[in-house]
Amino acid sequence: MSIDVAVIPAAGRGTRMRPATRVVSKALLTVVDRPAIQYAVEEAARAGVKEAIVVVDLDTGHLISQHFSLEGPLPGLEDVQLRPVVQEEPLGLGHAVNAAAHMVGDRTFFCLLADDIVRPGHDLLPSLAAGSHDGRVSVLCLRELTDEQLVTKGVAVPASEVEDGYLDLSGAVEKPSLEAAPSRLGLLGRYVFTSEVFEILEQLEPGRGGEIQLTDAINELGRRKRLRGHVATSDILDVGTPIGLLEASVVLGEHQFGSEFSTWLEDERES
Ligand code: UTP
Repeated sequence: MSIDVAVIPAAGRGTRMRPATRVVSKALLTVVDRPAIQYAVEEAARAGVKEAIVVVDLDTGHLISQHFSLEGPLPGLEDVQLRPVVQEEPLGLGHAVNAAAHMVGDRTFFCLLADDIVRPGHDLLPSLAAGSHDGRVSVLCLRELTDEQLVTKGVAVPASEVEDGYLDLSGAVEKPSLEAAPSRLGLLGRYVFTSEVFEILEQLEPGRGGEIQLTDAINELGRRKRLRGHVATSDILDVGTPIGLLEASVVLGEHQFGSEFSTWLEDERES
């Protein structure tokens, strides 16, 4: 089954990246030679997406649109139509995804958080699509986490053993305490959702932190037995914090510049 539409939420406050995000949106911060959001759109394009719906905020949304359209399409993105949609207030990730509901309609879609960048050569979307029973169930991308990571992420509730990298899930909880964590499988920012998620988000009350939480909608998908997980074999680069942005710059810089950069880095460490 091919999934041809992606929703990319990029309208968060980015408070962990202050002061860089006082004026510039987090999605536009540069990683090596391009803004973070471009990596997500490129990854979606590699997975066959023709329509990338980017959820933007009121102030900086037009800059994101301009980045992709000024002077014509970017190389490799000629076949992708970029469609911005405004989230008027940052009321949570679930609220941001729901802002795209009228554009997605009843299609099954990829969701990619612009904060998370895949490691070169480790695209995650094809495995998610492959586990979606022809687009009939939602699939989360999961990864075994350390104690420190676990309390900062959504964590999956397993309902079966892992078989060939996939398992059934009965729900998810947002940022659990270590004692309350239902598993060690944390959610990476890559998903396949059926349009059922919109119906759930529409009804959702604000959850943790007063925000409409995507994890609460995911939990309901699990309760309805409409949720699977895929355990990824590589982690993802989180550019939503200063140290994460720095780490991603090193990984992607080494990939792009090879020995030119690694030699410099080694010399720098030894000096
Ligand atoms: P985060 O959980 O990192 O929140 O969002 P944030 O507001 O961007 O950043 P901090 O916590 O204040 O530093 C995860 C993803 O969801 C998007 C963000 O842009 C990011 O891609 N998001 C979050 C929205 O689009 N809207 C929201 O209301 C919240």
